[in-house]
Amino acid sequence: MKLNKISAALAAIVAASAVIAAPAQAAPQVEVLHYWTSGGEAKAVGELKKMMEAKGVTWKDFAVAGGAGENAATALKARVISGNPPTAAMIKGPAIQEWGQEGVLANIDAAAVDGKWATLLPPVVSNVMKYQGHYVAVPVNVHRVNWLWINPEVLAKAGAKAPTTFDEFFVAADKIKKAGLIAVAHGGQPWQDTTVFETVVLGVGGAQFYKKALVQLDQASLTSPTMIKSFETLAKIKTYIDKDSAGRDWNLATAMVINGKAGMQFMGDWAKGEFTAAGKVPGKDFLCVAAPGTEKSFTFNIDSLTMFKVKNPDEQKAQLTLAAAVMSPEFQETFNLNKGSIPVRSGISRAKFDSCATKSMDDMAASNTAGTLEPSLAHGMAVDSAKAGAIQDVVAKFMNSSMTPQAAVQALAKAAKTK
Ligand code: GAL
Repeated sequence: MKLNKISAALAAIVAASAVIAAPAQAAPQVEVLHYWTSGGEAKAVGELKKMMEAKGVTWKDFAVAGGAGENAATALKARVISGNPPTAAMIKGPAIQEWGQEGVLANIDAAAVDGKWATLLPPVVSNVMKYQGHYVAVPVNVHRVNWLWINPEVLAKAGAKAPTTFDEFFVAADKIKKAGLIAVAHGGQPWQDTTVFETVVLGVGGAQFYKKALVQLDQASLTSPTMIKSFETLAKIKTYIDKDSAGRDWNLATAMVINGKAGMQFMGDWAKGEFTAAGKVPGKDFLCVAAPGTEKSFTFNIDSLTMFKVKNPDEQKAQLTLAAAVMSPEFQETFNLNKGSIPVRSGISRAKFDSCATKSMDDMAASNTAGTLEPSLAHGMAVDSAKAGAIQDVVAKFMNSSMTPQAAVQALAKAAKTK
Protein backbone atom coordinates (compact mmCIF):
# COMPACT_ATOMS: atom_id res chain seq x y z
CA MET A 1 0.00 0.00 0.00
CA LYS A 2 2.75 2.34 1.10
CA LEU A 3 4.91 1.34 -1.81
CA ASN A 4 2.02 1.82 -4.12
CA LYS A 5 1.55 5.32 -2.78
CA ILE A 6 5.22 6.12 -3.25
CA SER A 7 5.30 4.83 -6.76
CA ALA A 8 2.14 6.74 -7.53
CA ALA A 9 3.77 9.89 -6.17
CA LEU A 10 6.91 9.16 -8.13
CA ALA A 11 4.90 8.59 -11.26
CA ALA A 12 3.23 11.93 -10.73
CA ILE A 13 6.59 13.65 -10.32
CA VAL A 14 7.95 11.96 -13.43
CA ALA A 15 4.86 12.96 -15.38
CA ALA A 16 5.11 16.56 -14.17
CA SER A 17 8.78 16.83 -15.05
CA ALA A 18 8.05 15.39 -18.46
CA VAL A 19 5.57 18.21 -18.99
CA ILE A 20 8.11 20.77 -17.79
CA ALA A 21 10.85 19.26 -19.95
CA ALA A 22 8.58 19.08 -22.98
CA PRO A 23 9.44 22.40 -24.63
CA ALA A 24 13.16 21.61 -24.74
CA GLN A 25 12.46 18.19 -26.26
CA ALA A 26 9.62 19.26 -28.54
CA ALA A 27 10.05 17.86 -32.01
CA PRO A 28 11.45 20.35 -34.47
CA GLN A 29 8.79 21.73 -36.72
CA VAL A 30 8.37 22.84 -40.29
CA GLU A 31 5.53 25.08 -41.34
CA VAL A 32 4.80 24.70 -45.03
CA LEU A 33 2.63 27.07 -47.05
CA HIS A 34 0.99 25.47 -50.07
CA TYR A 35 -2.27 25.39 -52.00
CA TRP A 36 -2.58 21.68 -52.56
CA THR A 37 -6.11 21.25 -51.30
CA SER A 38 -7.95 19.24 -53.98
CA GLY A 39 -8.40 15.48 -53.53
CA GLY A 40 -5.30 14.39 -55.44
CA GLU A 41 -3.19 17.28 -54.18
CA ALA A 42 -4.06 16.69 -50.52
CA LYS A 43 -3.12 13.04 -50.90
CA ALA A 44 0.22 14.02 -52.43
CA VAL A 45 1.13 16.55 -49.76
CA GLY A 46 -0.07 14.11 -47.09
CA GLU A 47 2.76 11.81 -48.19
CA LEU A 48 5.31 14.54 -47.50
CA LYS A 49 3.79 15.15 -44.09
CA LYS A 50 4.05 11.43 -43.25
CA MET A 51 7.64 11.35 -44.41
CA MET A 52 8.62 14.33 -42.26
CA GLU A 53 6.88 12.91 -39.21
CA ALA A 54 8.75 9.62 -39.69
CA LYS A 55 11.94 11.70 -39.44
CA GLY A 56 10.76 13.19 -36.15
CA VAL A 57 9.76 16.55 -37.61
CA THR A 58 6.35 18.01 -36.82
CA TRP A 59 4.41 19.19 -39.85
CA LYS A 60 2.47 22.42 -39.45
CA ASP A 61 0.18 22.68 -42.40
CA PHE A 62 -0.36 26.16 -43.85
CA ALA A 63 -2.76 25.36 -46.67
CA VAL A 64 -4.41 28.25 -48.48
CA ALA A 65 -7.05 27.07 -50.95
CA GLY A 66 -7.18 28.66 -54.40
CA GLY A 67 -5.95 27.17 -57.67
CA ALA A 68 -2.54 28.27 -58.95
CA GLY A 69 -1.82 29.89 -55.60
CA GLU A 70 -3.17 33.41 -55.89
CA ASN A 71 -4.54 33.41 -52.35
CA ALA A 72 -1.42 31.67 -51.06
CA ALA A 73 0.79 34.45 -52.43
CA THR A 74 -1.22 37.06 -50.54
CA ALA A 75 -1.07 35.06 -47.30
CA LEU A 76 2.68 34.61 -47.69
CA LYS A 77 3.28 38.33 -48.18
CA ALA A 78 1.41 39.13 -44.98
CA ARG A 79 3.47 36.63 -42.97
CA VAL A 80 6.83 37.75 -44.37
CA ILE A 81 6.03 41.42 -43.82
CA SER A 82 5.15 40.71 -40.19
CA GLY A 83 8.57 39.09 -39.76
CA ASN A 84 7.15 35.63 -39.23
CA PRO A 85 7.63 33.65 -42.44
CA PRO A 86 6.79 29.95 -42.73
CA THR A 87 9.70 27.49 -43.03
CA ALA A 88 8.89 26.88 -46.69
CA ALA A 89 6.36 27.98 -49.27
CA MET A 90 5.20 26.70 -52.65
CA ILE A 91 6.89 29.42 -54.72
CA LYS A 92 8.25 28.67 -58.17
CA GLY A 93 9.84 30.07 -61.31
CA PRO A 94 10.95 33.71 -61.57
CA ALA A 95 9.07 34.50 -58.32
CA ILE A 96 11.92 32.79 -56.45
CA GLN A 97 14.25 35.55 -57.68
CA GLU A 98 11.71 38.21 -56.66
CA TRP A 99 11.65 36.83 -53.09
CA GLY A 100 15.45 36.51 -53.15
CA GLN A 101 15.72 40.22 -53.82
CA GLU A 102 13.75 40.87 -50.62
CA GLY A 103 16.59 39.22 -48.67
CA VAL A 104 14.27 36.77 -46.91
CA LEU A 105 15.32 33.41 -48.36
CA ALA A 106 17.44 30.79 -46.61
CA ASN A 107 20.59 29.27 -48.03
CA ILE A 108 20.14 25.49 -48.28
CA ASP A 109 23.43 24.71 -50.05
CA ALA A 110 24.24 22.22 -47.26
CA ALA A 111 21.33 19.97 -48.33
CA ALA A 112 22.26 20.33 -52.00
CA VAL A 113 25.89 19.36 -51.42
CA ASP A 114 24.94 16.46 -49.18
CA GLY A 115 22.39 15.19 -51.67
CA LYS A 116 24.61 15.76 -54.74
CA TRP A 117 21.83 17.76 -56.38
CA ALA A 118 24.24 19.00 -59.05
CA THR A 119 24.44 15.46 -60.44
CA LEU A 120 20.67 14.84 -60.23
CA LEU A 121 19.14 18.01 -61.66
CA PRO A 122 19.49 19.49 -65.14
CA PRO A 123 20.94 23.04 -65.01
CA VAL A 124 17.69 24.53 -66.39
CA VAL A 125 16.04 23.36 -63.19
CA SER A 126 18.84 23.96 -60.66
CA ASN A 127 19.42 27.51 -61.91
CA VAL A 128 15.84 28.43 -61.04
CA MET A 129 16.30 27.01 -57.52
CA LYS A 130 19.28 29.29 -56.82
CA TYR A 131 19.49 32.92 -55.87
CA GLN A 132 22.87 34.56 -56.49
CA GLY A 133 24.46 31.13 -56.92
CA HIS A 134 23.04 29.57 -53.73
CA TYR A 135 20.21 27.09 -53.43
CA VAL A 136 17.15 28.65 -51.82
CA ALA A 137 14.50 26.24 -53.12
CA VAL A 138 14.05 22.54 -53.73
CA PRO A 139 12.22 21.27 -56.84
CA VAL A 140 9.27 18.96 -56.28
CA ASN A 141 8.14 17.75 -59.69
CA VAL A 142 7.48 18.53 -63.33
CA HIS A 143 3.92 19.18 -64.41
CA ARG A 144 3.02 19.27 -68.09
CA VAL A 145 0.42 21.91 -68.89
CA ASN A 146 -0.56 21.23 -72.53
CA TRP A 147 -2.89 18.30 -71.97
CA LEU A 148 -6.46 17.59 -72.96
CA TRP A 149 -8.34 15.28 -70.54
CA ILE A 150 -11.11 13.26 -72.11
CA ASN A 151 -13.91 10.99 -70.96
CA PRO A 152 -13.95 8.19 -73.60
CA GLU A 153 -17.52 7.19 -72.73
CA VAL A 154 -18.70 10.68 -73.61
CA LEU A 155 -16.83 10.45 -76.91
CA ALA A 156 -18.45 7.08 -77.62
CA LYS A 157 -21.95 8.36 -76.78
CA ALA A 158 -21.40 11.33 -79.10
CA GLY A 159 -19.78 9.28 -81.86
CA ALA A 160 -16.70 11.47 -81.64
CA LYS A 161 -13.00 10.70 -81.60
CA ALA A 162 -10.11 12.14 -79.61
CA PRO A 163 -8.82 15.20 -81.49
CA THR A 164 -5.23 15.88 -82.48
CA THR A 165 -5.84 19.22 -84.26
CA PHE A 166 -8.15 22.14 -83.57
CA ASP A 167 -10.26 21.24 -86.61
CA GLU A 168 -10.81 17.78 -85.14
CA PHE A 169 -11.36 19.32 -81.72
CA PHE A 170 -14.27 21.43 -82.94
CA VAL A 171 -15.79 18.45 -84.78
CA ALA A 172 -15.68 16.42 -81.55
CA ALA A 173 -16.99 19.36 -79.49
CA ASP A 174 -19.95 19.79 -81.87
CA LYS A 175 -20.85 16.12 -81.57
CA ILE A 176 -20.66 16.18 -77.76
CA LYS A 177 -22.84 19.28 -77.67
CA LYS A 178 -25.38 17.63 -79.98
CA ALA A 179 -25.44 14.60 -77.67
CA GLY A 180 -26.67 16.97 -74.95
CA LEU A 181 -23.46 17.03 -72.93
CA ILE A 182 -20.99 19.77 -72.08
CA ALA A 183 -18.10 19.68 -74.54
CA VAL A 184 -15.54 21.68 -72.55
CA ALA A 185 -15.31 21.58 -68.75
CA HIS A 186 -13.84 24.84 -67.53
CA GLY A 187 -13.70 27.08 -64.50
CA GLY A 188 -13.92 30.81 -65.18
CA GLN A 189 -10.94 31.97 -63.12
CA PRO A 190 -8.17 34.12 -64.64
CA TRP A 191 -5.46 31.47 -64.21
CA GLN A 192 -7.62 28.77 -65.78
CA ASP A 193 -8.50 31.09 -68.67
CA THR A 194 -4.78 31.72 -69.16
CA THR A 195 -4.00 28.00 -69.01
CA VAL A 196 -6.35 27.44 -71.96
CA PHE A 197 -5.05 30.54 -73.72
CA GLU A 198 -1.37 29.55 -73.61
CA THR A 199 -2.21 26.05 -74.79
CA VAL A 200 -4.16 27.48 -77.71
CA VAL A 201 -1.23 29.77 -78.61
CA LEU A 202 1.05 26.72 -78.58
CA GLY A 203 -1.36 24.72 -80.74
CA VAL A 204 -2.06 27.49 -83.22
CA GLY A 205 1.42 29.00 -83.49
CA GLY A 206 3.80 26.19 -82.51
CA ALA A 207 6.59 26.19 -79.93
CA GLN A 208 8.81 28.79 -81.62
CA PHE A 209 5.93 31.23 -81.86
CA TYR A 210 4.98 30.50 -78.24
CA LYS A 211 8.53 31.27 -77.15
CA LYS A 212 8.72 34.55 -79.06
CA ALA A 213 5.29 35.72 -77.98
CA LEU A 214 4.78 34.45 -74.44
CA VAL A 215 8.32 34.02 -73.12
CA GLN A 216 10.28 36.74 -74.92
CA LEU A 217 7.19 38.97 -75.17
CA ASP A 218 8.16 40.08 -78.66
CA GLN A 219 5.80 42.92 -79.56
CA ALA A 220 5.47 41.96 -83.23
CA SER A 221 4.52 38.41 -82.31
CA LEU A 222 2.01 39.58 -79.71
CA THR A 223 0.11 41.59 -82.32
CA SER A 224 0.65 39.17 -85.23
CA PRO A 225 -2.05 37.43 -87.29
CA THR A 226 -1.11 34.20 -85.47
CA MET A 227 -2.00 35.80 -82.14
CA ILE A 228 -5.26 37.07 -83.63
CA LYS A 229 -5.99 33.53 -84.80
CA SER A 230 -5.23 32.26 -81.28
CA PHE A 231 -7.81 34.62 -79.79
CA GLU A 232 -10.31 33.63 -82.49
CA THR A 233 -9.77 29.99 -81.53
CA LEU A 234 -10.19 30.85 -77.86
CA ALA A 235 -13.43 32.70 -78.63
CA LYS A 236 -14.72 29.60 -80.38
CA ILE A 237 -13.77 27.37 -77.44
CA LYS A 238 -15.78 29.70 -75.21
CA THR A 239 -18.96 28.66 -77.00
CA TYR A 240 -18.56 25.06 -75.78
CA ILE A 241 -18.27 25.98 -72.08
CA ASP A 242 -21.42 25.77 -69.93
CA LYS A 243 -23.00 28.93 -68.55
CA ASP A 244 -22.25 28.03 -64.90
CA SER A 245 -18.49 28.10 -65.30
CA ALA A 246 -17.83 31.47 -63.61
CA GLY A 247 -15.58 31.04 -60.59
CA ARG A 248 -15.67 27.24 -60.73
CA ASP A 249 -12.61 25.56 -59.23
CA TRP A 250 -10.48 23.53 -61.63
CA ASN A 251 -11.00 20.28 -59.76
CA LEU A 252 -14.77 20.67 -60.03
CA ALA A 253 -14.34 21.05 -63.77
CA THR A 254 -12.22 17.88 -63.76
CA ALA A 255 -14.97 16.14 -61.78
CA MET A 256 -17.38 16.96 -64.63
CA VAL A 257 -15.14 14.99 -66.99
CA ILE A 258 -14.71 12.19 -64.45
CA ASN A 259 -18.45 11.73 -63.99
CA GLY A 260 -19.36 12.07 -67.66
CA LYS A 261 -21.16 15.42 -67.48
CA ALA A 262 -18.53 16.91 -69.77
CA GLY A 263 -16.28 15.52 -72.45
CA MET A 264 -12.96 17.37 -72.36
CA GLN A 265 -10.86 19.70 -70.24
CA PHE A 266 -7.72 21.69 -71.02
CA MET A 267 -5.61 21.45 -67.86
CA GLY A 268 -2.17 20.57 -66.55
CA ASP A 269 -1.62 17.10 -65.19
CA TRP A 270 -2.54 17.95 -61.61
CA ALA A 271 -5.93 17.03 -63.15
CA LYS A 272 -4.65 13.48 -63.41
CA GLY A 273 -4.25 13.50 -59.64
CA GLU A 274 -8.03 13.87 -59.47
CA PHE A 275 -8.67 10.95 -61.84
CA THR A 276 -6.20 8.82 -59.86
CA ALA A 277 -7.74 9.79 -56.51
CA ALA A 278 -11.12 8.75 -57.95
CA GLY A 279 -9.68 5.33 -58.82
CA LYS A 280 -9.80 5.94 -62.58
CA VAL A 281 -7.41 4.26 -64.99
CA PRO A 282 -5.85 6.03 -67.99
CA GLY A 283 -6.65 4.53 -71.38
CA LYS A 284 -9.80 2.97 -69.93
CA ASP A 285 -11.73 5.48 -67.81
CA PHE A 286 -10.05 8.59 -69.15
CA LEU A 287 -7.65 9.67 -71.87
CA CYS A 288 -4.72 12.03 -71.64
CA VAL A 289 -3.74 13.42 -75.02
CA ALA A 290 -1.55 16.36 -75.96
CA ALA A 291 -3.80 19.39 -76.53
CA PRO A 292 -4.70 19.94 -80.21
CA GLY A 293 -1.65 20.76 -82.32
CA THR A 294 0.81 20.40 -79.43
CA GLU A 295 1.89 16.75 -79.64
CA LYS A 296 5.52 17.69 -80.31
CA SER A 297 5.73 20.41 -77.65
CA PHE A 298 5.77 20.47 -73.89
CA THR A 299 4.89 23.38 -71.62
CA PHE A 300 6.42 22.76 -68.21
CA ASN A 301 5.46 23.87 -64.72
CA ILE A 302 7.94 22.95 -62.02
CA ASP A 303 6.68 23.10 -58.45
CA SER A 304 9.21 23.91 -55.76
CA LEU A 305 9.38 24.64 -52.06
CA THR A 306 11.20 27.88 -51.40
CA MET A 307 12.89 28.21 -48.03
CA PHE A 308 12.61 31.26 -45.80
CA LYS A 309 15.12 32.51 -43.23
CA VAL A 310 14.01 31.21 -39.85
CA LYS A 311 15.59 32.04 -36.49
CA ASN A 312 15.15 28.86 -34.45
CA PRO A 313 18.18 26.55 -34.97
CA ASP A 314 15.95 23.45 -34.68
CA GLU A 315 13.71 24.80 -37.39
CA GLN A 316 16.78 25.56 -39.54
CA LYS A 317 17.85 21.93 -39.20
CA ALA A 318 14.34 20.72 -39.95
CA GLN A 319 14.34 22.94 -43.05
CA LEU A 320 17.36 21.07 -44.40
CA THR A 321 15.68 17.77 -43.52
CA LEU A 322 12.64 18.90 -45.52
CA ALA A 323 14.79 19.86 -48.51
CA ALA A 324 16.58 16.51 -48.43
CA ALA A 325 13.28 14.62 -48.14
CA VAL A 326 11.81 16.36 -51.20
CA MET A 327 14.77 15.29 -53.33
CA SER A 328 14.72 11.71 -52.02
CA PRO A 329 13.72 8.93 -54.44
CA GLU A 330 10.91 7.85 -52.07
CA PHE A 331 9.31 11.28 -52.08
CA GLN A 332 9.80 11.83 -55.81
CA GLU A 333 8.01 8.58 -56.54
CA THR A 334 5.15 8.65 -54.02
CA PHE A 335 4.35 12.33 -54.29
CA ASN A 336 4.30 12.38 -58.07
CA LEU A 337 2.22 9.21 -58.33
CA ASN A 338 -0.47 11.07 -56.40
CA LYS A 339 0.05 14.53 -57.86
CA GLY A 340 -0.13 13.59 -61.55
CA SER A 341 3.31 15.03 -62.26
CA ILE A 342 6.65 13.31 -62.94
CA PRO A 343 9.86 13.26 -60.91
CA VAL A 344 12.14 16.25 -61.45
CA ARG A 345 15.39 14.42 -60.64
CA SER A 346 17.09 11.58 -62.42
CA GLY A 347 17.36 8.04 -61.15
CA ILE A 348 13.71 7.29 -60.35
CA SER A 349 12.22 4.04 -61.67
CA ARG A 350 9.33 4.35 -64.10
CA ALA A 351 7.83 1.04 -62.99
CA LYS A 352 4.92 2.41 -60.95
CA PHE A 353 4.04 5.33 -63.23
CA ASP A 354 0.98 5.09 -65.50
CA SER A 355 0.77 5.68 -69.24
CA CYS A 356 0.10 9.43 -68.93
CA ALA A 357 3.18 9.89 -66.76
CA THR A 358 5.44 7.83 -69.02
CA LYS A 359 4.13 9.74 -72.03
CA SER A 360 4.99 12.94 -70.20
CA MET A 361 8.52 11.64 -69.49
CA ASP A 362 9.04 10.64 -73.14
CA ASP A 363 7.52 13.83 -74.54
CA MET A 364 9.59 16.00 -72.24
CA ALA A 365 12.82 14.33 -73.35
CA ALA A 366 11.82 14.52 -77.03
CA SER A 367 10.79 18.17 -76.84
CA ASN A 368 13.98 19.02 -74.99
CA THR A 369 15.96 17.57 -77.90
CA ALA A 370 13.75 19.24 -80.48
CA GLY A 371 13.88 22.66 -78.80
CA THR A 372 10.14 22.69 -78.11
CA LEU A 373 10.24 22.53 -74.31
CA GLU A 374 8.76 25.80 -73.09
CA PRO A 375 7.93 27.37 -69.72
CA SER A 376 4.27 27.86 -68.83
CA LEU A 377 3.13 31.46 -68.71
CA ALA A 378 -0.03 30.76 -66.74
CA HIS A 379 1.90 28.89 -64.06
CA GLY A 380 4.58 31.42 -63.29
CA MET A 381 7.42 29.89 -65.27
CA ALA A 382 7.87 32.28 -68.17
CA VAL A 383 7.87 35.93 -67.11
CA ASP A 384 7.95 38.01 -63.91
CA SER A 385 4.82 38.14 -61.80
CA ALA A 386 3.84 41.72 -62.71
CA LYS A 387 3.81 40.97 -66.45
CA ALA A 388 2.18 37.57 -65.95
CA GLY A 389 -0.56 39.20 -63.87
CA ALA A 390 -1.24 41.90 -66.46
CA ILE A 391 -1.42 39.34 -69.27
CA GLN A 392 -3.75 37.18 -67.22
CA ASP A 393 -6.06 40.17 -66.73
CA VAL A 394 -6.27 40.68 -70.50
CA VAL A 395 -7.08 37.03 -71.15
CA ALA A 396 -9.72 36.97 -68.38
CA LYS A 397 -11.30 40.12 -69.79
CA PHE A 398 -11.39 38.53 -73.23
CA MET A 399 -13.05 35.42 -71.84
CA ASN A 400 -15.68 37.43 -69.99
CA SER A 401 -16.63 40.06 -72.54
CA SER A 402 -17.20 40.56 -76.22
CA MET A 403 -13.73 42.03 -76.70
CA THR A 404 -12.54 41.41 -80.27
CA PRO A 405 -9.34 39.46 -81.03
CA GLN A 406 -7.95 42.66 -82.59
CA ALA A 407 -8.51 44.62 -79.39
CA ALA A 408 -7.16 41.71 -77.34
CA VAL A 409 -3.80 41.60 -79.11
CA GLN A 410 -3.34 45.34 -78.58
CA ALA A 411 -4.15 44.97 -74.87
CA LEU A 412 -1.83 42.00 -74.67
CA ALA A 413 1.07 43.90 -76.22
CA LYS A 414 0.51 46.70 -73.71
CA ALA A 415 0.29 44.28 -70.77
CA ALA A 416 3.60 42.73 -71.81
CA LYS A 417 5.30 46.09 -71.13
CA THR A 418 4.17 46.16 -67.50
CA LYS A 419 7.03 46.98 -65.13
C1 GAL B 1 -0.35 24.97 -60.42
C2 GAL B 1 0.57 24.23 -59.49
C3 GAL B 1 0.09 22.85 -59.29
C4 GAL B 1 -1.37 22.82 -58.92
C5 GAL B 1 -2.23 23.77 -59.74
C6 GAL B 1 -3.65 23.96 -59.21
O1 GAL B 1 0.11 26.26 -60.63
O2 GAL B 1 1.84 24.21 -60.07
O3 GAL B 1 0.88 22.20 -58.32
O4 GAL B 1 -1.51 23.05 -57.57
O5 GAL B 1 -1.64 25.02 -59.86
O6 GAL B 1 -3.68 24.68 -58.04
